[in-house]
Amino acid sequence: MGLTDPFVGLVPRKMTDTELARAIRQNVAAEVDAINLYAAHMDATDNESARRILSHIIDEEKEHLAEFLELLKILDPTQALDIEKAGPKVRAIVEAPTAEAAHEAHDALEASDDAVEAAETAPVQIPGLGKSPTVGSLRKQ
Ligand SMILES: [Fe+2]
Repeated sequence: MGLTDPFVGLVPRKMTDTELARAIRQNVAAEVDAINLYAAHMDATDNESARRILSHIIDEEKEHLAEFLELLKILDPTQALDIEKAGPKVRAIVEAPTAEAAHEAHDALEASDDAVEAAETAPVQIPGLGKSPTVGSLRKQ
């Protein structure tokens, strides 16, 4: 792992939220890397003082990781939705009695997500307007 160039942050303009989301994903990766590095250092020593400090810092990095993920959910609503859907899918897989049942449970949840998405994007039929209205057709009325 290289050290971060201190001049990399001197940009001529502010980031858009999309660019910031990408930067936050890099921060997420950095926190994960720090957690793993400090855990490896803990495993590599019997010095109890060092192990306590490393353990304390690992806990803080885990908190930073969680905070960056929450920020990412604000910056990227699509990512937020994926994170929201991941919990039930993971629980269904983990709690399934067999690997085959896990695949079936996962596929059922995917199909359910697809059905909800299709319903949300389907054209709305409004009685008396004939075919589905568009934004343009509603503006004329
Ligand atoms: Fe951190």
